[in-house]
Amino acid sequence: MSTWHEQVAISGSVALPPDPRAMEGLGRNHSLETALADLIDNSIDAQASEVLIRFVRRAGRLRALYVVDNGHGMGRNEIDMAMTVGSRRVYGHADLGRFGLGLKAASFSQARAVTVISKTAGTPPVGRRWVLDDTRENFLCDIVSEEFCFDEFDREWGIADGNSGTVVRWDAVNGFPTTDDALRVEKFLTQTVAAIRRHLGLVLHRVLEDGRVAIMIDVEDVGSAYPGPRVPVSAVNPFGYLKSGRPGYPKDLVTTSGDHKIEFRCHIWPGRSRTEEFRVRDAPVNHQGIYFYRNDRLLQAGGEWAGLHTIDPALQLARIAVDIDDDILGLFRMNPEKSRVLIGPDFTALAENARAEDGSDIATYLADAEETYRRSRKRNRTRKAMIPPGKGFAPQLRSVIEDEIPALPRLEGISIKWRRFDNDLFFDVDRTNSTLWLNQAYRPGPAGQRHTVNDVPLLKALLYLLVEDVFEGDYLGAKDKDNIDLWQEILTAAAKSEGAA
Ligand SMILES: Nc1ncnc2c1ncn2[C@@H]1O[C@H](COP(=O)(O)OP(=O)(O)O)[C@@H](O)[C@H]1O
Ligand SMILES: [Mg+2]
Repeated sequence: MSTWHEQVAISGSVALPPDPRAMEGLGRNHSLETALADLIDNSIDAQASEVLIRFVRRAGRLRALYVVDNGHGMGRNEIDMAMTVGSRRVYGHADLGRFGLGLKAASFSQARAVTVISKTAGTPPVGRRWVLDDTRENFLCDIVSEEFCFDEFDREWGIADGNSGTVVRWDAVNGFPTTDDALRVEKFLTQTVAAIRRHLGLVLHRVLEDGRVAIMIDVEDVGSAYPGPRVPVSAVNPFGYLKSGRPGYPKDLVTTSGDHKIEFRCHIWPGRSRTEEFRVRDAPVNHQGIYFYRNDRLLQAGGEWAGLHTIDPALQLARIAVDIDDDILGLFRMNPEKSRVLIGPDFTALAENARAEDGSDIATYLADAEETYRRSRKRNRTRKAMIPPGKGFAPQLRSVIEDEIPALPRLEGISIKWRRFDNDLFFDVDRTNSTLWLNQAYRPGPAGQRHTVNDVPLLKALLYLLVEDVFEGDYLGAKDKDNIDLWQEILTAAAKSEGAA
């Protein structure tokens, strides 16, 4: 046997840049929504106050997807860094970036080509492009012509004008329908925009709520004189219940690890709910668990208890918010897609040590949440069932009514609608059509203006609670008739005096 050498002997070196196809493997766990979230993290890190997500359609077919921001932008050197896989800059403590991968991984998980055009204040824009199926060797990145950079940067993006910002453009997006069939494209857009709004609204809810950034989505039809309607992304706060499910909550439990403090903000929802804020995941049982935030960005929305407990139907109302700042990041790892937090073994023990000011711990909290859940079930069972709302109710109003009031098994709900009357009465109970008609003459709002069917939610909520009873049963009793006359008298007088005021 020959002797073992401590040192490996070398005789030279050969350059072996990675095969360009290596880039295709990046970001495998991304969906369109999580990929977009990663681009927007960069916009937020660049201090953007506005971000636009734009789908571009030409001749009926979706061609490109843009994320445009008015942040501080990048110069020549920075843009080269930005396009480099795995190049890390020096991060500030509040930055969302971390791995130097986000932009590339997000883009290549969704598109065959990514172009970045960026401008800092006082310098002309610069641009770079990566194309995946490029057969060129050596990771050569395209330099976008200056003229094109100007054109692209100065397009009508409709976001607050700055003299700096960044345009990220994806071409050949994998998920786009390969058709110009108007119906299919519309359907795709409707579903996709809804999914993007939900996801971004959720993961960025804190940033959206405190107004640090506004995010809009629109669709541009090339050649059309008008930009399409834009929809804002609004915050979806997973702790956005109206009233806590239990006095004393939310409750902060605190523990320390070395010099660092970890806070568990323990919440109990008042009951199951149909609101977006409650239904953050696919199955109701998965909404519970720990919600991890890093720099106010939601990384993981529940779905597990990090070793503290198993997922349990009785814990449906329990959610804990935990902020993991970089000083305690050692206890965790996040996946590069920033959609999951992997918990180290020390975390569970630390969490078990966490105490509130009143001395209670996580076990107490979980028991409280369980008891609240049982009570909410019971309360809903003992409440008198009512005919559910039909048409004319604003979505939030409908969800709250559906959450709070058990529904009578009926084919049709009670609709509340406006129509022209040939008298001056305020309402008409139409039991055959399960509709409460309101006299158009009293409809609030400036004359001639278009109304939405779901208008005046406060008035409709009151009317629903008042008249629901008279829609029940096979015939109108004497008591019902007398009540209707009474309400008619008073409400008509009230409506008239509102008009006169
Ligand atoms: N929209 C943007 N505005 C300004 N700079 C950006 C933008 N997007 C990316 N960058 C720059 O590119 C770098 C690389 O981005 P990325 O690949 O997402 O990795 P990370 O965010 O982890 O650093 C960022 O650190 C930032 O300097
Ligand atoms: Mg990033």
